[in-house]
Amino acid sequence: MNQHATTPAARVIPIAPDSGTAYGRAAPSYQKELAEVGAGTPMGELLRRYWHPIGLSSDASDTPRQLRVLGEDLILFRDKSGRPGLVYPHCAHRGTSLFYGRVEERGIRCCYHGWLYDVQGHCLDQPCEPEGGRARDKLRQPWYPLQELYGLIWVYMGPPEKKPVLPRYECLEVLDEGEFLETNDASIGGGGPTVIACNWLQHYENLVDPFHVVILHSSFSGMQFAEQMALMPEVTWELAEHGVRTISLRKLPDGKTLRRISEAGLPTLRVIPSPRLGRFGRVESLGWVLPIDDHSFRIYVVGRVREPGELSKMRTRMNGKLWEEMSEAEHQKSPNDVEAMVSQGVIAHHSQEHLATSDRGIVLLRRLLQKQLAALKEGKDPLGVSFDPAAPPVHFTAGNFLLD
Ligand code: FES
Ligand SMILES: [Fe+2]
Repeated sequence: MNQHATTPAARVIPIAPDSGTAYGRAAPSYQKELAEVGAGTPMGELLRRYWHPIGLSSDASDTPRQLRVLGEDLILFRDKSGRPGLVYPHCAHRGTSLFYGRVEERGIRCCYHGWLYDVQGHCLDQPCEPEGGRARDKLRQPWYPLQELYGLIWVYMGPPEKKPVLPRYECLEVLDEGEFLETNDASIGGGGPTVIACNWLQHYENLVDPFHVVILHSSFSGMQFAEQMALMPEVTWELAEHGVRTISLRKLPDGKTLRRISEAGLPTLRVIPSPRLGRFGRVESLGWVLPIDDHSFRIYVVGRVREPGELSKMRTRMNGKLWEEMSEAEHQKSPNDVEAMVSQGVIAHHSQEHLATSDRGIVLLRRLLQKQLAALKEGKDPLGVSFDPAAPPVHFTAGNFLLD
């Protein structure tokens, strides 16, 4: 039988004249002052008032390593007396990169004419000059101060007179029975590769977006976390001592309530309790979003664990596969945070957004960042920096809590 003969006549739907088409739309733009991280930009200067993790302690060795941090290219090394150093790549003599330098007891020696610099950029030797360089004290190789804590190397890249104390955190200082600290540099929680190819703010804003957990992580791409996370939460956001706090309440089938509190701490801190709900109680790990430049970022995580390798097990798998093991077609079928964030644009198109009630956390976070930019302009210090070495460790209220 001819199939067309059985198809009922199409109902004619009246169509209004075309409007709202893609034609003639405005070019997208973004909020430069929030997104860009280079030296001299508003956010770049705000970020430079805080310490940032830039590598594992083991990344600093006698093999110089090229890094990019907040849009600046730098060379990381560890001299043979054990001190880590971070210097501008181009040798103060005639610009050869110290990437090709040789690490010695007292610092790093340039391969071209052998000038030797210590971890604070002092020039200690100029072997081709009379007396090893009579004027060598007059120059300085640009450098940044480093500290080591929690298995990470931290840098302060701001004005020296504004250098705050490197913060310590209660949730990493006070360990429960059987716990020890583990450090991870694989950008766990970013859902993809170690270096994620979009602006850092997209991930930072993701921290105050608990609703995407219900869609992206709990149904769209299968169930990635604990099944309770698939329940639609009742969410409130509020300003906290160090950033924006998100409180998500979920009524569980057994009558109990899951109270999940997370925080986005200024300027890049991720205080997110595990969505796998392995155990309840205070937050077990902290993550720091490191803006590499305007177009890429990575994440360092430190957590309290009970078994070696526990943090890397937190990396999301889709049908048993890690992100890099999946084909492009599989990524399209099962997108993760990385696909959601990178496809917003290398820098998200803020001018084209339509923020809704579920985005109140993002609005609050952007306002808080704007407020810090204004504070800096007025010569004030931004939220959360401390100059008191005796201050107690920073405490967060974050965690997964079961209420009757
Ligand atoms: S360029 Fe480095 S010592 Fe000459
Ligand atoms: Fe996510």
